[in-house]
Amino acid sequence: MAKQWLTRVTELLEGVTVKFAYVQDGVPREGFLARIGDQIVAYENVCRHLPLPLDFGDNHIFTQDRQYFACQTHGAIYEPLTGLCLHGPCAGASLKPLRVSSENGELWLEVLDTIG
Ligand code: FES
Repeated sequence: MAKQWLTRVTELLEGVTVKFAYVQDGVPREGFLARIGDQIVAYENVCRHLPLPLDFGDNHIFTQDRQYFACQTHGAIYEPLTGLCLHGPCAGASLKPLRVSSENGELWLEVLDTIG
């Protein structure tokens, strides 16, 4: 399985997402990482309502209180640990999780095997 280096664990701060580009099935895509307590999550940066990024290219994905992810286009609210849309036009759908591994303080995307 191919891996793609993303960032160092120490550079992933609580309440701030880190975006990254990757290619899957020959298609350029964008993902983002977030630290939620002692857990790290990663999702494809695509809303489940329409195939648009959650942000406007400005890495503004967390809500102001940093408790949820929000789609800036129509306001869908997602639960960070599960990716589940709690409120909005895609309620009940989930963000596409990406598999990330941690080795010696470095975070790697497992490129070829997304889940969900
Ligand atoms: S595109 Fe995200 S809620 Fe509509």
